[in-house]
Amino acid sequence: MSNGSTAFFSKIKGNNAYVLADSLDDRKRLTIQVKVFTPVFKQAIGLALDKAELWTKLRDPKATFHILDLGCGEGLYLPILHQYLLERGAKAHLKMVGIDLDSTAVATAQEYMTALGLRHARFYLHDATMPLTKIEGLSLVDPSSHFDLIFASALLMHLRNPQATLHYIYEVLQPGGAFYTKDMSWSWDNSYPSPAFTRIIHLAQQATLKMLGVDFAANPKSFLQVAGFESIESFEDRYAVGGHTESGRRMLENLLLVQHAVRATLIQSGVISAREYDGLMEQEFREISPELEGRFSTVNTIARRPLH
Ligand SMILES: C[S@@+](CC[C@H](N)C(=O)[O-])C[C@H]1O[C@@H](n2cnc3c(N)ncnc32)[C@H](O)[C@@H]1O
Repeated sequence: MSNGSTAFFSKIKGNNAYVLADSLDDRKRLTIQVKVFTPVFKQAIGLALDKAELWTKLRDPKATFHILDLGCGEGLYLPILHQYLLERGAKAHLKMVGIDLDSTAVATAQEYMTALGLRHARFYLHDATMPLTKIEGLSLVDPSSHFDLIFASALLMHLRNPQATLHYIYEVLQPGGAFYTKDMSWSWDNSYPSPAFTRIIHLAQQATLKMLGVDFAANPKSFLQVAGFESIESFEDRYAVGGHTESGRRMLENLLLVQHAVRATLIQSGVISAREYDGLMEQEFREISPELEGRFSTVNTIARRPLH
């Protein structure tokens, strides 16, 4: 990449390095991705709450349980979490907060929650690379040690300094509070047996890795250890891309939309010419077939803040 490309990336959104640039295309494809990831999301949250021994508090009707979704996008996970906790017997008052630095997504999230009747969910515009003790518009009695559960789905993998954000997360988590992060490594070989498809995905991954200078998901545990977390556990989840299954077809659609969302960024940053990119996209549409199936993985990491 040229120096010009670094400058382009730095202009996307302040110090946000989100390569998909918060586009409408990206928002659309996330609705598909959330559906595919939901079973593992519930599993990981359940595990995080087990490890932190938070079910007693959750089942206490007199308790207030504070939840934060960091990099919430349109807030798609909070209603899923709310429903899951109710199904598992939660009786506590669930206060949910989502933050993102995309104002359109934050507004959509708030509308969506209101439409669902989830009145105790609030969304705020905030940069997760800044301390979480001061979120404009959100007043917390004790900003440090506030949240019982914090999760970040596909956020830390997009940050240049995930360690700093982990420090801010740790700070606002209650002692004994639970944390869950889901990420994809930029160096993993996410494959699909179409040469054009694979080339585009690899170009996007390599450009992002170069721009970020860090691959959080390659070793999330070490970052969490440095931040002071304990009971850290990671597990991978693998998905089919394409093929005959419903989730495989959704994942393929998701990754094609990723390619579309990242197109402008890659071209403007000089990674590839428009002509070559569009040529590759045409080629991949000829190559894609239901007979072909690829693989895609993410890593789920859960932990808790020590009690003392
Ligand atoms: C891949 S999307 C994931 C959205 C949602 N968590 C999900 O899993 O569907 C990444 C989100 O992180 C947000 N984001 C990126 N950098 C951020 C930052 N520094 N502070 C807050 N949000 C950020 C983006 O705006 C985007 O909504």
